[in-house]
Amino acid sequence: MENQFDVVIIGSGPGGYVCAIRCAQNGLKTAIIEKEPTLGGTCLNIGCIPSKALLDSTEKFYQINHSFKEHGIYCKDIELDLHQMIKRKEKVVKELTDGVRYLMNKNKIKVFNGIGSFFSYKDEIITIQVQNQNETIFLNTKHCVIATGSTVVTPQDVGLDVTIDGDKVLISDHVLSLTKVPKSMLVIGGGVIGLELGSVWSRLGSQITIVEVMPDILLNLDSQIRQIAKRSFEKQGLNFLVDHKVVSIEIQGDSVISKIQNSKNEVITLQTEKVFFAVGRKPYTEGLKLEKVGVKLNQRKRIQVNPKTLETDVKNIYAIGDVIEGPMLAHKAEEEGIMVANKIARKYGHVNYDLCPYVIYTWPEIAWVGKNEDQLKQLGVEYNVGTFLFRANGRAKGMNETEGMVKIIADKKTDKILGASIVGPFASELLGECVIAMEFGGSSEDLGRSFHSHPNLIEVVKEAALDVLGEAIHK
Ligand code: NAI
Repeated sequence: MENQFDVVIIGSGPGGYVCAIRCAQNGLKTAIIEKEPTLGGTCLNIGCIPSKALLDSTEKFYQINHSFKEHGIYCKDIELDLHQMIKRKEKVVKELTDGVRYLMNKNKIKVFNGIGSFFSYKDEIITIQVQNQNETIFLNTKHCVIATGSTVVTPQDVGLDVTIDGDKVLISDHVLSLTKVPKSMLVIGGGVIGLELGSVWSRLGSQITIVEVMPDILLNLDSQIRQIAKRSFEKQGLNFLVDHKVVSIEIQGDSVISKIQNSKNEVITLQTEKVFFAVGRKPYTEGLKLEKVGVKLNQRKRIQVNPKTLETDVKNIYAIGDVIEGPMLAHKAEEEGIMVANKIARKYGHVNYDLCPYVIYTWPEIAWVGKNEDQLKQLGVEYNVGTFLFRANGRAKGMNETEGMVKIIADKKTDKILGASIVGPFASELLGECVIAMEFGGSSEDLGRSFHSHPNLIEVVKEAALDVLGEAIHK
């Protein structure tokens, strides 16, 4: 009886642990399996949380060196204690991963440490094996949720013959814990991780070059917003080589020599102290033994699910988060976890994928939801656009954070908001009200006529909303 459950969740990232909590809240006897010693998955241990901790620390370092003077503050003998910066990051991670363990205990969720794999499925009972160094345990369950997340795309996956050695050739795990600021670093991939972690080390003095194979960075972003962001990154000292691809990497003594080719087959050679691979993540299904129960992968090696229920091809086995289709985002996994937990408990569950927000935590931050102008043009939808610049906002001026813009797009006939994109200070926080407005089917007029406290950055959103119908006050 001891190891009989209503639900067993494999993987304790934001998808898995949130799903477990909601299952327990729904009165289901729940267990969670995690192969790593700490809970929280990539996001808490080696992803979102540690990167944001370092982004915050390095933002402060950058400000003290670059913008304090403007405020009349002169600082002498500024020193970087990288050891302390990394220690603080680790403390933040520990507090949060301990917090997840506390929540598991509070909700009476049984935690098993080890690799979970499917063993058998008979008479509507799924048997899962948990293997760790000391023992093999078998769990019987009526339902299972696969929440095993993703892992990094390797050099071999992109046709490069070089080993990730954690010294010269790095992935994000290493870049989050460097003990010395590298003089120079080549970042391969101008996506979210490349930009965020490239920014961290650039602010600490590293010469960063970002190589992106596509014609520009962040091609899924509104092009006007992208241009503002890229200009700002370049001003901060990030170098971009877009439409370029690394074709070989060789370690020579203390340096790494990379050959980089553009689409016209011209090759340049770059010598850096480190090379950092940030070319994407891939679903992680290793060790699950999916074949034992008949769970299938799709062509992109993601677990195949019914998009409405997130049930796999096998009854009562679900999959959520990075391991299935869709953006690899913690909040997407969380929403899916809640939906599945509710469905298992025979309650209502739904994820509104159209309103999944995206954020890049650079400075300025970039955040967006819904459709952008380029996408609406392609779809042939008629729309009105409203924009407003942070430099016309009192609070932004007071903070000396005037870079950026809010752009809101609404349907030409109905005025229903179709999308919002922001580049600017705290864009990630400002986007929240746009998501809510859109979730309620709101119009630009709804947003523009709602009270917004003054003086606040959020007034930039209000003004952009008013601007959709040509009624901005301060423009
Ligand atoms: P990504 O997919 O965002 O970016 C990878 C970039 O590398 C792409 O722009 C791609 O065109 C480029 N690329 C691929 N192969 C290349 C090559 N051989 N040479 C040069 N460029 C190449 O992946 P990233 O940044 O590694 O992030 C992985 C996942 O983690 C993403 O799905 C992202 O959404 C998620 N994530 C989200 C964060 C957030 O929400 N703020 C933070 C960090 C990661």
